[in-house]
Amino acid sequence: MLKPIVKYQGGKSKEIPVIRQYAKNAKRIIEPFAGGAAAAFYFEKPSVLCDINHNVINLYQTVANSKDFSQLLDDVEALKDADHDELEAEYYVARDYINEHKNSIDYDSQKAYCYIVLRQLCFSGMERYNSEGDFNVPFGHYKNFSCNLVPEHHEFLRTCELIHGSFEQVDIKKGDFVFIDPPYLERLGYTEGDGSISLHERILEWTKNITENWLLIHSDHQFYFENYKHIVTNEFAYSQRFGKDKDHSNAKTYHLYISNRPVEVKFFSGTKEGLQMELVDIIAEAGLEVDKSIITKLTGKAAQYFIEVLSKNNS
Ligand SMILES: C[S@@+](CC[C@H](N)C(=O)[O-])C[C@H]1O[C@@H](n2cnc3c(N)ncnc32)[C@H](O)[C@@H]1O
Repeated sequence: MLKPIVKYQGGKSKEIPVIRQYAKNAKRIIEPFAGGAAAAFYFEKPSVLCDINHNVINLYQTVANSKDFSQLLDDVEALKDADHDELEAEYYVARDYINEHKNSIDYDSQKAYCYIVLRQLCFSGMERYNSEGDFNVPFGHYKNFSCNLVPEHHEFLRTCELIHGSFEQVDIKKGDFVFIDPPYLERLGYTEGDGSISLHERILEWTKNITENWLLIHSDHQFYFENYKHIVTNEFAYSQRFGKDKDHSNAKTYHLYISNRPVEVKFFSGTKEGLQMELVDIIAEAGLEVDKSIITKLTGKAAQYFIEVLSKNNS
């Protein structure tokens, strides 16, 4: 049950309770659009992580690297003592480094450190590049630096297959669960392959040939309603910081859960009742007797606590 190493826009940590209902019994987790890889880190099963963004995969390769990991962890830990002004200076040094090496797709542990600095300290957590491919987001004026990186990330990523490339490159095997989380159609925000229609048309054709279980999460865009209507779909209102409104204020979006596997989603994340139902599910999965009358008395925090304890125990 690891947390993603870096904050990632569009990260799906909050939707793990739903993803879990689709991913049950999977032998491996395949993330063709890995980003922060919330699902793979959470389930800690054998995983394949693929992303078109070299910074993402280079980070995971560095964390997986036995020679470079401890230096990376030391550098990250040292930054936790820095104050606002030191962080600001470090941010712009890191941004310059990333931009100077934007055309390189070689393994680079220094670039991995700089990417962590950018992801954790950029304004509003937005990863944006200008037309020349330069990262152009300013410092987010943080007073402290935080990062979830721990030795367990190293242990886990050493076991993963890491692919820098496009989603079609993943090799899907029997028993895999494929979690498809592309950039939203017509949304800004990522390096390459930004939400253009052609990317989503390619995804549509690609999913037609996947016979193993897959789940695709996307906003409630017309393209998805029209093209996936023959497939089991669940819909869920989801609040997020970057929404449809121009000023990104208090925006709410609807997520579609599209899958080739007929899963009747029992609960969605975010509410006390959802957490209680998730706990009931996890207790039953562990082969223990469930007393629902007690569980419905728990607060959301208490339910969350027991979910974490039991999930650790089960894995
Ligand atoms: C919504 S994010 C994934 C977030 C992730 N599920 C998480 O929990 O953090 C989408 C990712 O897809 C990547 N991407 C865009 N086009 C791609 C392509 N053609 N092949 C692989 N990855 C791509 C982006 O770089 C970005 O990291």
